[in-house]
Amino acid sequence: MAPLRITYAALCYISLFMELATTLTQIGDLSRSEQPPTWPSTFSVNFHEENWVWIIPLARNAGAWHYDFANKRMRYDHLQGQFDNFCHGRGLDLKDSRGDCHLLFNATDMFVHYPGEQKCCRACGVAEGCTVLKPNWLAGGTYLGTETINGTVCHGWETDGAAATDRWYQTEDGTPCRYAETIKFWPHSTHNITFHMSSYSRDPIPNSVFHVPAYCNVRCPSPWRPLSALQPSIRVTT
Ligand SMILES: *[C@@H]1O[C@H](CO)[C@@H](O)[C@H](O)[C@H]1NC(C)=O
Ligand SMILES: *[C@@H]1O[C@H](CO)[C@@H](O)[C@H](O)[C@H]1NC(C)=O
Ligand SMILES: *[C@@H]1O[C@H](CO)[C@@H](O)[C@H](O)[C@H]1NC(C)=O
Repeated sequence: MAPLRITYAALCYISLFMELATTLTQIGDLSRSEQPPTWPSTFSVNFHEENWVWIIPLARNAGAWHYDFANKRMRYDHLQGQFDNFCHGRGLDLKDSRGDCHLLFNATDMFVHYPGEQKCCRACGVAEGCTVLKPNWLAGGTYLGTETINGTVCHGWETDGAAATDRWYQTEDGTPCRYAETIKFWPHSTHNITFHMSSYSRDPIPNSVFHVPAYCNVRCPSPWRPLSALQPSIRVTT
């Protein structure tokens, strides 16, 4: 019955090999999922945003990101109730500084736009680091492990800037979960942007979304300066 014994031994080896292969694949997956992700060059997503200082909520509002690195443009919407530090303090003559505010980026300039009041100005540009985030802005980031965000398991990474620590969370398949920022000089501050995952889209974005109105072509009375980055904000540079 020698042939049968060989067959049995061969089966043992095959199953051992398959077990080993499965283990190696799992190790491979684990390290792959710990690599800092690169953003797709175009995506849109809606979110819920909160700013806290200690236990005091400063703002809770809706918003959206329209990211189009492929065409060197992006739009960040901070909607009614916002306390965004790019929107605020620009010296615009506004009825409601906490109204809908869009940050519009093209390849050279960043504009603060209050569409409801048709008020807009150029806040900063390349010289101040106000440029479209690079898709690899998380390169060199530290893997934080998983966190369950609004019921979904998400992977997190952290990058350490001069003034703030940024954390980015996304699902295994790359859907954004949360962007969280803490300001180093303000340890009890929280700025969390939690994404509505079902709104995530990688479809091309219509040009009209990035339209810069003609009335934006003025400098802000108080342009944005990098030092004011010590307040809660979303990261604008890499
Ligand atoms: C950005 O927008 C401003 C205002 O519309 C315009 O003057 C400037 O040329 C634009 N930059 C690019 C690279 O399109
Ligand atoms: C902000 O996000 C961080 C990271 O996910 C989380 O630990 C923290 O609880 C969040 N804070 C609020 C107020 O949601
Ligand atoms: C969290 O989940 C609840 C219930 O499913 C949903 O209504 C809410 O919009 C979610 N929040 C975010 C930021 O996705």
